[in-house]
Amino acid sequence: MAATSQILTAVLLFLIFTNIKGKYKQIEIEIAGKNENEPAKIFSESELKQFDGSDPDKPVYMAVRGVVFDVTEGKDFYGKGAGYNQLAGKDASYAIAVWSLEDKDMHHDISSLSDNELKGLDDVFLGTYKKKYPIVGYLQYLMDKHADKVSDRLSGEL
Ligand code: HEM
Repeated sequence: MAATSQILTAVLLFLIFTNIKGKYKQIEIEIAGKNENEPAKIFSESELKQFDGSDPDKPVYMAVRGVVFDVTEGKDFYGKGAGYNQLAGKDASYAIAVWSLEDKDMHHDISSLSDNELKGLDDVFLGTYKKKYPIVGYLQYLMDKHADKVSDRLSGEL
């Protein structure tokens, strides 16, 4: 009897755990050129770095989830000497998701994030960046991810 209830408890815990973890599905990023028939602009990380706000004659760019935004309008946040300047010229999706401005968090590996953090990141992506700033392109890593997805799908069909 005790063994049965132990097994039932284990099954219940397993079901709860598998249901909680990995439930949040991140929003799909659509890759598109500014105009129809125009290819999307793809940035390397070093190319994006040129727009980190250190040159006042250049626009300021930053990326979230691989999407590059022109945040020049938000120079008071991201320009040279501004409070969020660390986020400029790079994709610091991880830092945005965990609400940190520490150097060690300035990267875009979001594989360790919880569902809540992933959702928070999507909320900032949609509610702040997509709403306020024009998209100027995409980072190469996002293209590579999409290419992997397409080849997975194709190999599944073969
Ligand atoms: C004591 C801590 C903080 C305070 C008081 C604070 C305050 C603010 C305020 C008032 C705004 C809104 C500005 C506006 O829309 O006019 C803002 C925006 C923002 N904050 Fe913070 N913040 C803090 C920490 C952080 C941290 C740690 C991050 C790390 C990523 C962060 C990232 C952002 C971002 C990305 C925006 C949006 C900027 C934009 O609209 O382009 N903040 N913050």
